[in-house]
Formats: sequence, C-alpha cells, structure tokens
Amino acid sequence: MPQIYSRIIATGSALPERVVTNVDLEKIVDTSDEWIHSRTGIRQRHIAADGETTGDLAFRAAQSALEAAGVKASELDLIVLGTTTPDIIFPSTACLVQHRLGANGCAAFDVNAACSGFVYALGIADKFIRSGQSKKVLVIGAETLTRMVDWSDRQTCVLFGDGAGAVVLEASSEPGIYATCLHADGGFKELLYNPVGVSVGFNDEPNHGVRIHMSGREVFKVAVKTLDSLVGETLEAAGMVESQIDWLIPHQANLRIIEATAKRLNMSMERVIVTVDKHANTSSGSVPLALDYAVRSGKVQRGQNLLLEAFGGGFTWASALLRY
Ligand code: ACO
Repeated sequence: MPQIYSRIIATGSALPERVVTNVDLEKIVDTSDEWIHSRTGIRQRHIAADGETTGDLAFRAAQSALEAAGVKASELDLIVLGTTTPDIIFPSTACLVQHRLGANGCAAFDVNAACSGFVYALGIADKFIRSGQSKKVLVIGAETLTRMVDWSDRQTCVLFGDGAGAVVLEASSEPGIYATCLHADGGFKELLYNPVGVSVGFNDEPNHGVRIHMSGREVFKVAVKTLDSLVGETLEAAGMVESQIDWLIPHQANLRIIEATAKRLNMSMERVIVTVDKHANTSSGSVPLALDYAVRSGKVQRGQNLLLEAFGGGFTWASALLRY
C-alpha cells in the first residue's frame, strides 16, 4: 500500500471588525502600550461584536479556505474544530458550522485543548486521512476568548483577542504532513484555567465566574522549556534537522516565547511568522490565522517546510511539521 499523506490545499481566516489597541486599554485598566508591547509584542487585538460568536468566525474562515481550495462543502468527509469557547454547550460548534456550510452528513466534532486546539485538531485530522478513513477534511481553530476575559484584571485582559483560521486537508501520495506530536500534562491545571462550568457549577462573581486565571510568569517558564523539547522531538519524528525548516509558525501568545523557540531552532526572526502584534493571543485561532497570513502575504511558498507549534492551558502542547 502506498503511503497516504495529508496535504494542506488551502487556508482561510476571519477576524472581527472591531480593533482595540493598547492605548484603548489604557483607558480601562492601569496599563500602558509600552508595558504591554515590551512584555508581549502585542499592539492591538480584534474583539467580537455583541452577538458575534466563535461559530460565526469559524464559518467565515471555513468559507474562505474552501473557496481558496476550490472544494465544495458537500465534498468534506470530516470537520474538526479546535475551540475552548464554543457557541453553546451542545451541539458542538463543528456541527453548527457544518450545517451552515451545507456539509451535512460528514463527521464533525470539537477539540478542546485550549491554545493547542488547532494543532491538536490538525494532528487528529491527519490520523483520519492516513488511516484511509477520510479524504477531504476541514480543520478549524476558532475562538471568542475575550468573552472569558475579566476586563478589570490588567494581568490577563491585555493578552487576548478573537479570531479564526481554517485549512482544507486532502489525502495525497505526496507529503504533506510529516509528523505531528501531541502532549498534555493536567498536573499544571492551577497555572492556567477557567474555574467554572456546567458540572462544577457557576458562581456569583461577575460573568458567573467565567474568567481566565493565569500565573503568567510560571506559564512563561514552562512554555519556553516545553517548546524547546517539543521542536527537538518533532524534528526527530520527521527525520529532519533545523536547517530544513523554512518557516516557524508558532502560537502567538508572547513574542519573547516565540523568540526563544526560534533561537532553539537557530532560525533568524525573518523566518518566523509573527502576528501577535496585530491579533494578540487568539488561542486556537492563533496558528491558523498566522498560517493564512503567511500564505496570503506570499511569504510561505509551495514546497516549503513549515513547523507549527502551540502551548496552552492543560497544559497542552502540540506541533506539526509539514511540507506546504
Ligand atoms: N500593565 C502594567 N503592569 C502590569 C500589567 C499590565 N497589563 N500586568 C501585570 N503588571 C505588573 C505586575 O503587577 C507586576 O508588578 P509588580 O512587579 O509591582 O508586582 C509587574 O507588572 C510584572 O508582572 P509579571 O506578571 O511578573 O510580568 P511578566 O514579565 O511575567 O509578563 C506576561 C507577564 C506577559 C503575562 C508573561 O508572563 C507571559 O506572557 N506569560 C505567558 C502567557 C502564555 O503564554 N500563556 C499561554 C497560553 S494562554 C492559554 O492557553 C489560554
């Protein structure tokens, strides 16, 4: 049997219209553009309008990816959507998007791996294609994370934004995704979590207690160390060395974390896709938004090797090394 690979045939993305700059945030919390930019690289973020949902952004990103791919929604046999901010508890946002696209009948489900959601979804979709189960798959990362932001907490509210990205994957005899690595360690829950939910219950705090709790400095340290070993593991799994990577497309949480990973790969920042300045941390939306930006701006070319990686609440961390 010849080897089956999954190939990204097109990308798409969607951002809410409203842009909120660091200077805008200076008016609501005790912060400054200088503090936010020097600590994180962020200058602005997009914020969903009232009533605009994760599913709306996912739908728009999916439409743009399908259009670029020249693939009809009815041809899809699987939709995997990474999100930690689903529209409603069930049906999954993947099901809501599937119906709006007119892809009714194919398998569709959400993956919650916090900021690693899209790369997890990509890894799962890759397994479906490699096993021969699926031929054309839509993979989406979409979030309205600002809905769980406490706008009075300057330590977290400056970090996040909303957005979505998507890719269409196709079974191919040509690579394709060479390797994906998925990991989690639930022992780190207390460093980054949202404490309420259907089963635990909600509370009397503002927004029913829906709020990101983060020990930023600790998360930062573990993220740098973990991504360092993740890129080594991914290169080994793909049988490649650092110099074969054309572009690093990292999770966009913090420019300093991105720079540390680039250094580990001996890559100049010219070969790293950075969108954190414009989008801030869009969790599952971040990697596919950066990928779509890289493709549509003409930076990433067909035949180049891309290393995608992400780190987020759980902790979760994941990577994909692929030829575009
Ligand atoms: N404006 C001004 N001052 C601030 C702000 C702010 N927005 N936020 C915190 N400060 C202050 C603090 O109160 C502290 O003051 P003190 O020294 O008087 O006590 C000082 O700035 C330093 O605070 P630290 O938290 O130590 O700052 P640090 O340099 O660590 O930067 C940051 C904080 C940006 C959050 C960083 O730690 C980080 O990026 N961590 C990783 C985040 C991440 O990657 N998350 C992963 C994914 S998220 C997900 O999965 C949902």
